[in-house]
Amino acid sequence: MKTLVSPSLLAADFLNLKDEIEMINNSQADWLHMDIMDGVFVPNISFGFPVLEAVSKVCKKPLDVHFMIVHPEQYIEQTAKLGAMMMNVHYETCTHLHRTIQQIHAAGMKAGVTLNPSTPVSMLEDIIYDVDMVLLMSVNPGFGGQKFIENTIRKVKRLRKMIDDAGTHTLIEIDGGVQDETAPRLVKAGADVLVSGSYVFKSADPHATIEALKKLE
Ligand code: DX5
Ligand code: ZN
Repeated sequence: MKTLVSPSLLAADFLNLKDEIEMINNSQADWLHMDIMDGVFVPNISFGFPVLEAVSKVCKKPLDVHFMIVHPEQYIEQTAKLGAMMMNVHYETCTHLHRTIQQIHAAGMKAGVTLNPSTPVSMLEDIIYDVDMVLLMSVNPGFGGQKFIENTIRKVKRLRKMIDDAGTHTLIEIDGGVQDETAPRLVKAGADVLVSGSYVFKSADPHATIEALKKLE
C-alpha cells in the first residue's frame, strides 16, 4: 500500500487559510490533519470549532482531527456534525476508552487512539480490535516543528507486530518531526499514514513534498 499523507494545518499560514486549503485540495494529500488543543492536556492552545467548521466547508479532503484535550468524549457529536472522517482521542485522556470509541463509531466517524511518546503500545492490546487507527506521537504533543523522538521507530515495529498478530486492518499514523530523513524509516518500520506540518507547509514546493512522501513504500 502506498503511504497516506495527512498534512497538519497547524503549520499553515492562518492569514491565508483559504489558499492553504486550496493547495491541499489540489495536492495529492489524502487527508487534512487538524490539531485541537486546550491548554490543559497540552501546554498550548491552537484553534477550535469555528475554524474547524470554516475549513470543513472548503476542504475536499477527509478531515483527520486530533484532539489534544481533556474530555474529548464531550465533543463527539459536534465533530461528527462537521463531517470529520476520523476522530483521534488520546489514550491518556480517556478513562473509559472503549465507551468513547463506541460513541465515535455510533456518531458515524472512524476512531483513532493516540499515544504520547511515553505511553507503551502494549496498553492497546485489548482495544486494538476496536480501533481504526493508532496515532503514535513522535514528539510531545502541543507544538509543531519539534525534533523527532527516535524511539518511535521501535514503537512502530512493536505496533505493526501487534496489529499483524491480531489480524486487524488498523492503520498506524505518525505525528511529529516527519520529514525527508525520518519518513522513509517510519514507512519501512510499518507506518501507513504520515502527518507532516512544517515539512509540508514551509516547503518551497508543498505539492512536490507531499508527492515525495506519498511515493514511500
Ligand atoms: C503536535 C501536532 C502535530 C504538529 C506536527 O502536537 O499534533 O500535528 O502539527 O508538526 P511537525 O510536522 O512540524 O512536527
Ligand atoms: Zn497532530
